[in-house]
Amino acid sequence: MRHEPQRDTSRGNLLTDSPELYEARFPDPERIAGRWAEDVLRRYGAGPRVLDIGCGTGRDAAYLHGAGRTVVGADLSTVMLEYAREHHPGPEYRHADLRGFDLGAFDAVVCLDSALLYCHTNDDLDGFLTSCRAGLAPGGLLVAELRNGAFFLGRTELLDTPTVDAFSRHGTVHRSTTTLSLDRAAQLLRRRRVWSADDGSPPVEQHSAWRLLFPQELRHFLTAHGFTVLGLYDRPGPRTEPPWRAGDDAATTVDADRLHLVARLTG
Ligand SMILES: C[S@@+](CC[C@H](N)C(=O)[O-])C[C@H]1O[C@@H](n2cnc3c(N)ncnc32)[C@H](O)[C@@H]1O
Repeated sequence: MRHEPQRDTSRGNLLTDSPELYEARFPDPERIAGRWAEDVLRRYGAGPRVLDIGCGTGRDAAYLHGAGRTVVGADLSTVMLEYAREHHPGPEYRHADLRGFDLGAFDAVVCLDSALLYCHTNDDLDGFLTSCRAGLAPGGLLVAELRNGAFFLGRTELLDTPTVDAFSRHGTVHRSTTTLSLDRAAQLLRRRRVWSADDGSPPVEQHSAWRLLFPQELRHFLTAHGFTVLGLYDRPGPRTEPPWRAGDDAATTVDADRLHLVARLTG
């Protein structure tokens, strides 16, 4: 069964609809995510053509462009793409759905900050990996960074109490209260987030979800689509604590809340 090509898995998400807020809420002044991706690409000898799928604001795509690569950044959100073209120029930015795309030929596909988990169903994942395989040169790399479904096995610390965050942007204080819950049947981590601001605007409630993808399951999908897993580990990475630093060795564990994947197209 094919997915619906334009089903917007991030619709109504204030952060993905508001690139400025996204960058304010998740600042990366040292470009750790871009540097981590570039380090992995170099370490595994990737060629210069890179697709950043689910590129968001374009921050990492632009970093890779600055490192000398020829980069296409692609996203389903037109708002993100407009922002990326204006604020992070260099890459070519294209509108595409990661569950089925044809954006040319690449030496590597990168997919950061759990964008891959907007593949909610097995069909979505098959669509993503079929597209990667078609677009990658032989020996091409897939590099991804995502939440780890296995982290939630026997742990409730991220589920028990809502997380409250606040940050200031242009003199307005924004607050978000985030509640995570498990949808076991659909294998989804559902997120309800309520936003409020001290500028008198009414609160906004939003819902989104990530696939709960487990390491063994991920390996199985990759192998079935002709990839050899070169690395799958929980730390260090751009969003681990402590974050990745140049020269760090990858762990051999897959226990913490983030997964880092390096796979090569060999089949
Ligand atoms: C959490 S953000 C990550 C953005 C960027 N990779 C980063 O690390 O900053 C997830 C991104 O995935 C995009 N997205 C969600 N569903 C998508 C889909 N089906 N196809 C392409 N992009 C999608 C959203 O618009 C959003 O920009």
